[in-house]
Amino acid sequence: MKRAFAVLVSSMFLCALSAGVAFAQPDGKAIADKACSKCHGIKKVESAKKNASEWEATLDRMIKKGAKVAPEERDAVLKYLNTLVF
Ligand code: HEC
Repeated sequence: MKRAFAVLVSSMFLCALSAGVAFAQPDGKAIADKACSKCHGIKKVESAKKNASEWEATLDRMIKKGAKVAPEERDAVLKYLNTLVF
């Protein structure tokens, strides 16, 4: 029983580890370049200086309008957008 628990815990750990690697992979800039230049140029994005919570609100507004950012790509895109802060 103890052993089964140890196996469970270590497989959960491995799972979290591989999920971490998978989430670290999407390239936020590449996704934004593609998803955010569809309706307006990417310049509109690059020239907008926002803080983290403004970017989060803007990104969610754009996703509602139809920007193609998958839920698992959202964090990577936000991370990139936050590099555009003053
Ligand atoms: C489906 C079309 C569409 C897509 C795709 C899109 N946008 Fe927009 N965006 C708009 C429209 C329409 C406006 C102007 C009206 C407004 O501000 O809501 C706008 C305005 C903006 C503005 C200026 C207004 C403000 O709030 O500062 C920014 C910045 C912006 N978009 C960022 C993005 C980002 C980042 C993405 C990619 C995740 C994106 N947009 C993708 C339609 C789109």
